[in-house]
Amino acid sequence: MVCLGNICRSPLAEGILKSKRAFKTFEVDSAGTAGYHIGESPDPRSIAVARKNGLDISKQQGRQFMVSDFDIFDHILVMDTSNFKNVVKLARNPEDKSKVSLILDQLHPRQHMEVPDPYYGGDSGFDNVYDMLDKACTIFVEKLS
Ligand code: 4NP
Repeated sequence: MVCLGNICRSPLAEGILKSKRAFKTFEVDSAGTAGYHIGESPDPRSIAVARKNGLDISKQQGRQFMVSDFDIFDHILVMDTSNFKNVVKLARNPEDKSKVSLILDQLHPRQHMEVPDPYYGGDSGFDNVYDMLDKACTIFVEKLS
């Protein structure tokens, strides 16, 4: 799960995906394309919306996406087209590139829909992001299992 800062959207996506029962045997992680928040906890607003929905994401720590992630993960789900470009720039070959997709393609294939960055907005943006990610993760888990 990849966003820009790894403190708002992708930590929620990581927490939601990990919470899906069928997903317990998969390795799930999140990262940011930027290194602004390495080692930091998720944004308090993400922690709060997760808690409201029964998830604890407070122990996560921000990290930056690395080329070696292409070796570890089969699927790299990104939140917006800017994340997509930044991750694909690091792809070493077509196989790496084929792992990268917009997470909302799970719900709306080929519509290029983005999970809006809630960082500069109010709390309702985080509820909206949570709902989008929960729906997308539900479909993703159904497809994989
Ligand atoms: P995220 O949101 O990419 O969903 O974690 C952001 C967090 C921090 C910043 C931008 C977006 N920032 O500019 O610090």
